[in-house]
Amino acid sequence: MATLYNFRSEGCDLGIKIGPRDLRGRGYASEAVDLLVSYVFDALGLKILRGSTLSHNVRMQRVFEKCGFVETGDGSLVSRYDNRRYTELFYERHREV
Ligand SMILES: CC(C)(COP(=O)(O)OP(=O)(O)OC[C@H]1O[C@@H](n2cnc3c(N)ncnc32)[C@H](O)[C@@H]1OP(=O)(O)O)[C@@H](O)C(=O)NCCC(=O)NCCS
Repeated sequence: MATLYNFRSEGCDLGIKIGPRDLRGRGYASEAVDLLVSYVFDALGLKILRGSTLSHNVRMQRVFEKCGFVETGDGSLVSRYDNRRYTELFYERHREV
């Protein structure tokens, strides 16, 4: 699943999930995020692509890093799944000029 949403301020957010666990770790998310980057900047003409992940999701942090995103800050959220508090890390990639 690859989603673009929350279109605002010349940018949007991305969400991604590789459903079957045995298909994770094969580079599919990195490839999909690279394709989203091209689509958002080249086809849609936006300037910023944003993303976030929880601080324990090291795989997604690695995907953001590999795809040229930089960490811009963090926040705290309460999960609606288990009602526990987690740290969320925010990432951005800006279109090259
Ligand atoms: C997070 C997710 C999208 C990553 O997808 P993926 O196809 O496995 O990602 P990739 O294979 O492109 O890259 C994963 C990277 O993390 C690394 N990695 C894998 N397991 C890791 C671990 N336990 N600790 C650290 N790094 C890890 C891989 O080695 C790879 O980096 P590399 O290419 O430098 O070796 C996928 O695991 C997923 O769908 N998870 C559940 C949903 C989710 O968390 N979505 C993101 C919510 S913000």
